[in-house]
Amino acid sequence: MTTITQTLTEPLRTLHLRSESPKKTEKPAFKGTQYDHDKDAGGAKDQEYPYAWALPTFNNTTYPPLTPYEHKDPGLEALKHENPREFLQNAQVSDLTPRFGADVSGVQLTQLDTRGRQQLAKFVAERGIVVFRDQDFQDQSPDWMLQDWGSFFGRLHIHPTSAHPLNHPEFHLVYRDMSKTFNYEFTDRFTSSVWHSDVTYEEQPPGLTTLFLFDSPASGGDTAYVSQVEAYKRLSPSFRAYLETLQVVHSGVEQANFSRAGNRGGTVRREPVENVHPLVRTHPVTGEKALFVNTQFSRRIVGLKKEESDAILNLLYDHLAKGVDFQVRVKWSPRAVVLWDNRVTAHSAIVDFDSAQDGRRHGARITPQAERPFLRKD
Ligand code: SIN
Repeated sequence: MTTITQTLTEPLRTLHLRSESPKKTEKPAFKGTQYDHDKDAGGAKDQEYPYAWALPTFNNTTYPPLTPYEHKDPGLEALKHENPREFLQNAQVSDLTPRFGADVSGVQLTQLDTRGRQQLAKFVAERGIVVFRDQDFQDQSPDWMLQDWGSFFGRLHIHPTSAHPLNHPEFHLVYRDMSKTFNYEFTDRFTSSVWHSDVTYEEQPPGLTTLFLFDSPASGGDTAYVSQVEAYKRLSPSFRAYLETLQVVHSGVEQANFSRAGNRGGTVRREPVENVHPLVRTHPVTGEKALFVNTQFSRRIVGLKKEESDAILNLLYDHLAKGVDFQVRVKWSPRAVVLWDNRVTAHSAIVDFDSAQDGRRHGARITPQAERPFLRKD
């Protein structure tokens, strides 16, 4: 058994710096391979880059297989609150579409207490994806981002193949500059879009996920999201009932093989795995059902002949990709932080820019694991 990973990232050339220096962290001794940013990327400009601490590195550290852990979703606590949207009382909230996505100003994520974070987890589960504007999140120390913030929502996932900041493997970096990307390459395809939920090959794939950019092109590099809850609801009752009987194999093998072939940093830090998940899953907080398949990691439906499995999976992939009436597209702004619930959404980076002309795209994702996917029958 093995695993593969992929994530989309984007380029950068001009620096659109977003904030002052992050809070000081101790500079660890470097061991391993660090991408030569001076030579290949921003050159001398990177000397002044306030987010140099978060530039991509690879080292040779390997990790044992993940073991099961008990996930208690913080959003469940918010179900007991009298007003579960209390944390938004001074905020401006605009829905991106009637049932999917929201754009929020007037709340600092860094100021939320335990209760506020529980309500946040519930809110993101309900809306699927939420953009928080004008945050001071990017200025916090990496330790705060990971240990205080990320760990609150679940056990931090270490990506098996992607680049991470020096000595902080729990960040998954998105990075594309004029000469290099550590994410998805699409030279042999028409489009950069690859709809996926993150690392669904894991036994306990991520739940509430945080993504923020340090640097990005002035335009371009948006991120697209699709609601797998709405996608599920659009299907006919009899087809939904059939899909609810099915289990799907998710695999990380191709992602690992891609790295082993010398791509990205050429690193595979955990042996790839395959896991079987229900094709339709239930969200533990909202109780909503969602399709749980994606082109990047879903491979086959257990027990069906190949033609049957391919036909159903391809039908669902097309449905998710074409459903602009249950998708949203997030335009990044300086200091935005985007949270999504990986259990009920899929996403795709949009690589519509040329880093040599438009600038670098550099961001980080914090990806806490959630429960093992399950389906609660009605
Ligand atoms: C991701 O695929 O997790 C990152 C998406 C993006 O770079 O916009």
